[in-house]
Amino acid sequence: MVVLGIESSCDETAAAVVSDGTVLLSNVIASQIDVHRKYGGVVPEIASRKHIEAILPVIAEALDDAKVSLADIEGIAVTRGPGLIGSLLIGLSVAKSIAFARKIPFVGVNHIEGHISAIFLAERKPEFPFIALVVSGGHTNIYLAKGFDNFVLMGQTRDDAAGEAFDKAAKMLDLGYPGGVVIDRMAQAGNPGYVKFPKAMRGSLDFSFSGLKTALLYYIKKREPPIREDEVPHIVASYQDAIVEVLVEKTLNAAKESSVPRIVVSGGVASNTRLREKFYEEAGKEGMEVFLPPPVLCTDNAAMIAVVGDNLLRNGERHSYDMNAVSRWPLESLENL
Ligand code: KG4
Ligand code: ZN
Repeated sequence: MVVLGIESSCDETAAAVVSDGTVLLSNVIASQIDVHRKYGGVVPEIASRKHIEAILPVIAEALDDAKVSLADIEGIAVTRGPGLIGSLLIGLSVAKSIAFARKIPFVGVNHIEGHISAIFLAERKPEFPFIALVVSGGHTNIYLAKGFDNFVLMGQTRDDAAGEAFDKAAKMLDLGYPGGVVIDRMAQAGNPGYVKFPKAMRGSLDFSFSGLKTALLYYIKKREPPIREDEVPHIVASYQDAIVEVLVEKTLNAAKESSVPRIVVSGGVASNTRLREKFYEEAGKEGMEVFLPPPVLCTDNAAMIAVVGDNLLRNGERHSYDMNAVSRWPLESLENL
C-alpha cells in the first residue's frame, strides 16, 4: 500500500510517501525554526500561519520526490494529536480534503506512536514486544510496546520533558534555539565531568528534569568568578551527561523489570550523539539490543505517521470527516478516543 503521511503538530510542516509501511519513498520537512528563533520558542499563531503557507508545496514535493502522483496514493495518514490545535488542524483539513477529492481513505494518527514507529523504516527493525523511550520536546515516556496499538506506560516525566531541559539550558546560557542541537554540537568539545549535576529520581521509572534545570541556573548565577566562554562546552557536556545517564539508566531498568531485552529510542532527543553512543554502550554490556532510527527520522517527520497509518489502513480502519484534532492524547488510551 502506498500511503501519504502528513505531519503539522508543532513547527515542522512535513509530508512523506511510504510503501508497505517500511519503504521510504520520500520525506520532506519544512522547518519553521528560523521564524520562531527570534522569540526563543514556538509561537502557536505564527506556526499555524506558516503551516498554511507550506503544506501544499511540501505535499507536492513529497509526491515529486517519490515519483508518484496523487492517483497512486492509496491512503492518507495524518497526525491527529497531541500537539498545537491550530497547527494540527491545518494538516487534518488538508488530509480530509485530499481523501474526499480522491475518494481514498484517511486515518488520524497519534504523534507519539509515530515517533516509536519510525524505527520500522530503519534497516534493523525490532520485533514486538520492546521497551520504547520517547524523548522529545513535549514527552519523556517509557512504554512497554506490545503491538502497534498496544502500549503500557511504565514511566514518564513529572515536570519538564528532556528536550525542554536541553532547550531551557541553551536559553540560560544564551546559546540559541533550538537548544538540543546546539548543546549536542558544543558538548563534543567538552569534559562531562566538569560540573557534578544532580541525577534525579533514582529508583523510579519516572523522570524529573526541573531540579537539574534549577541547578544549572544557580550554577550560572552563583559562579565566582563568572563563567568564561571557554568553560561553556564543559558545562553543557556535564549537563547533557546528567540527562543522558538518567534516560539510559531508567530505560535499561524498564527492560530488566519486564524481561524484554529490546529497546527502541525515538523522538527529537534520540538524535543526540552522546545519547546514541551511551545507549549502544550500556545496552551492549547488559546483552540488550538497541534500535535507533536515523537522526532525520527521530525529529518530527511525516514518514513515521505514514508507518502507523499503513498499519491502521491495512487493518481496515477508516476515519470519518467529523474527526477533530486533539491537543492531548495519551498513547496508552489509544482506543478510548
Ligand atoms: O520530536 P521533536 O522534533 O518534536 C517534538 O515532538 O517535540 O523534538 C524536538 C526536541 C527539542 O526539544 C530539541 O531541542 C530536541 O528535540 N533535540 C535534541 C537534538 N535534536 C533535537 N536534543 C538533544 N540533542 C539533539 N541532537
Ligand atoms: Zn515529535
